[in-house]
Amino acid sequence: MSDKMTSRLAGFHKLPLGERQQQIARMYRLKPDELGIFQGAEALAPAVADSMIENAVGTFSLPLGLALNMTVNGRDVIVPMAVEEPSVVAAVSFAAKIVREAGGFIAEADDPMMVAQIQVTGYGEPEAARQKILAAREHILALANSFHPQMERRGGGAKDVEVRILPAPEGPKGEPLLVVHVHIDTRDAMGANLINTVAEGVAPLVEQLTDGKVYLRILSNLCDKRLARATCRIPIPLLADFNLPGEDIAEGVVQASRFAQADPYRAATHNKGVMNGIDAAAIAAGQDWRAIEAGAHAFACRSGQYRPLSTWQCEESHLVGRIELPLALGTVGGSIALHAGVRLTLKMLGVSSAQEMAMIFASVGLAQNFAALRALGSVGIQQGHMALHARCVAVTAGARGVWVEKIANLLVKAGHVKVDKAREILASLTPEEVAAATGG
Ligand code: MEV
Repeated sequence: MSDKMTSRLAGFHKLPLGERQQQIARMYRLKPDELGIFQGAEALAPAVADSMIENAVGTFSLPLGLALNMTVNGRDVIVPMAVEEPSVVAAVSFAAKIVREAGGFIAEADDPMMVAQIQVTGYGEPEAARQKILAAREHILALANSFHPQMERRGGGAKDVEVRILPAPEGPKGEPLLVVHVHIDTRDAMGANLINTVAEGVAPLVEQLTDGKVYLRILSNLCDKRLARATCRIPIPLLADFNLPGEDIAEGVVQASRFAQADPYRAATHNKGVMNGIDAAAIAAGQDWRAIEAGAHAFACRSGQYRPLSTWQCEESHLVGRIELPLALGTVGGSIALHAGVRLTLKMLGVSSAQEMAMIFASVGLAQNFAALRALGSVGIQQGHMALHARCVAVTAGARGVWVEKIANLLVKAGHVKVDKAREILASLTPEEVAAATGG
């Protein structure tokens, strides 16, 4: 997206699907084959899928929606999201609309530093082994960089060596664990392959240095040196809604934040909301969302108690939200070159680096969380959720086209959002209406 483009597309959600597709095609100057992906053309050919995983039998689709209204560091960005759950895209778009009125999200991301772990056993005296490895730091780094010289040329590559001595899980009688970390800057790659190559590649040298035996050689998904942060400051009067003043809504959000900080049971659900946004954006952008999930939840436990990834408090008549989490993302590598749908969503995101993508995703997580807490701390989420759920129910009962909305509205009005009720409504229509409503 060029800097001049807006993510504020008023009335977009009310347009029929085809008009939404055409509007986006015009905005991004999509080629016919790119527009075709929105319209159901193959984003991933089965033959390509066959080269990606084992026992492939085909491909699998999800709804792709666009989170609107996002402004991150002064740039408007429309975020493609692949998700099956109703409300997620609407929630991000809604929250982002409020935040953009308050100046948008401000975000930052650390350098893309990842960790290769090497587990050593039978090394003798722990401190002596540690010193031997640290003394060979330059040798280890040079060897590590020899496996990916192009990464070093791009400013990345292995940067540091650390040795950790961890208590044996069996107690004092067991051998303490000696774990070597090689810190690697993976630039715009998520980096898993590269890191694992380095871990396996330097392991023989580590064995030689320690006279020990290496077991595991693998990346860590707790990439706590690759954090992204986002924040937003919303003037409290902007929060007024549901016939409630902004102060009441802000208080509900702050109480929700306190609840999650104090209680892991609540923190898990709070973070599920955060990840609703981040996972959906990550899946659409072809990212390894399992790695993102693993990193996020391990990071949430870093104090010894599982805590929320985001917090909210009132500061000088503003509601201020902050989020921080590891985000190992890539704009190169992985499935990106193979998946036409992913190439299209990356074109729309228009990011120039993995760090920029991390800033946007952190902001999406905060937006999603804000939308949830704003409703949970006031009127609850079921009312809004049911309206969206009713559309799925109407489709399940057979409704198509404009009748989906009509039947959904009748279901909500009846206070009975169930397939049998939708079928009952359809059965009460005239034969001509039934034909129109069901496309029959
Ligand atoms: C539902 O998918 C996500 C929420 O439960 C998040 C939350 O409770 O904060 C609404």
